[in-house]
Amino acid sequence: MVRKNHRFTLAARPVGLPKPTDFAFGEEALPELGDGELLIKVQYISLDPAMRGWMNDVKSYVRPIAIGELMRAIAIGSVVESKHPRFAVGTHVSGMFGLQEYAISNGEGLIAVDPKLAPLPVMLGTLGMPGLTAYFGLLDIGKPVAGNTVVVSGAAGAVGSVVGQIAKIHGCRVVGIAGGADKCRYLGEIGFDAAIDYKAGDVKAALREHCPKGIDVYFDNVGGDILDAALTQLAPRARIIICGAISQYNNTTPVKGPANYLSLLVNRASMTGMVVMDYTPRFAAAIAEMAQWMAAGKLRSREDIVRGLEQFPQALLKLFTGENHGKLVLEVA
Ligand SMILES: NC(=O)c1ccc[n+]([C@@H]2O[C@H](COP(=O)([O-])OP(=O)(O)OC[C@H]3O[C@@H](n4cnc5c(N)ncnc54)[C@H](OP(=O)(O)O)[C@@H]3O)[C@@H](O)[C@H]2O)c1
Repeated sequence: MVRKNHRFTLAARPVGLPKPTDFAFGEEALPELGDGELLIKVQYISLDPAMRGWMNDVKSYVRPIAIGELMRAIAIGSVVESKHPRFAVGTHVSGMFGLQEYAISNGEGLIAVDPKLAPLPVMLGTLGMPGLTAYFGLLDIGKPVAGNTVVVSGAAGAVGSVVGQIAKIHGCRVVGIAGGADKCRYLGEIGFDAAIDYKAGDVKAALREHCPKGIDVYFDNVGGDILDAALTQLAPRARIIICGAISQYNNTTPVKGPANYLSLLVNRASMTGMVVMDYTPRFAAAIAEMAQWMAAGKLRSREDIVRGLEQFPQALLKLFTGENHGKLVLEVA
């Protein structure tokens, strides 16, 4: 039987916010498996802010997606056919499967996923790439010490919510910055000490109020004006983690850099970029530790699931409008 696959390819390089016409939705017949290959039925696809950067034709930590190429995405699925010695039919795996219903793999880069550990969408969020980003960015670069004040932007999102909760586990005072009353209320529910609604007031003044001893660790997910505001309130020897700059990803003008960077000099502070893939050899140990925190009720997870592969272009935009509440995942119906 010829099996059909549906997939999104990149049709044009977006200018500003991605438009539906920047993608093409198509159908293809799946080829027969070769020796050493396996067929994966994709179940959940991770929608990530980084996808916006992958669509630009610029030098980055991964090569750009070519025009006409399958849209790149991390996903989880189950093995439905296998000519591979290590991956049996019925196994759940995660990998860079892209925006499609079926993926054929030779096993390279695949990670076996234990569906008993947590629901599959959680394995793309808190126990997946975003959670690992929070874990290594905060602990390895931020090096929080009990009693430190930790501030995180994009705080209600997939990465930010985990950063704040891990900082609490490590005995820190945690202040989150997020957009809107709902998201700020959620930060209180998951144990943040204070929340700043950047859409409702002056972030600089709010940081002064909530961080009277200064910021020891600032985990930056958004860049732009919020990064600049955080720079004005650093404590001596503060550590800034440059994880992302979502406020700048759809710019049609040059990226806005921090004007207040001399605060790094005055405070003997540091600002360090991180890419989660650098920590791949330590992923399994980190996931095991975070799974224990989840089981103990110390780490909570929230997913925003959109159903239907064809919803991809609209669903992706939720990341940039702030409509997503938690880890944004596309369920392949
Ligand atoms: N370095 C790495 O290895 C790595 C790995 C994963 C993710 N990241 C980065 O981590 C950041 C968070 O990713 P995520 O997956 O956790 O996304 P997310 O927080 O779940 O979703 C994105 C959120 O960004 C906020 N946002 C959008 N536009 C904004 C703007 N102009 N100003 C301020 N906030 C804005 C929105 O929240 P509000 O409603 O609060 O505005 C939105 O909900 C991104 O910058 C991403 O690129 C980096």
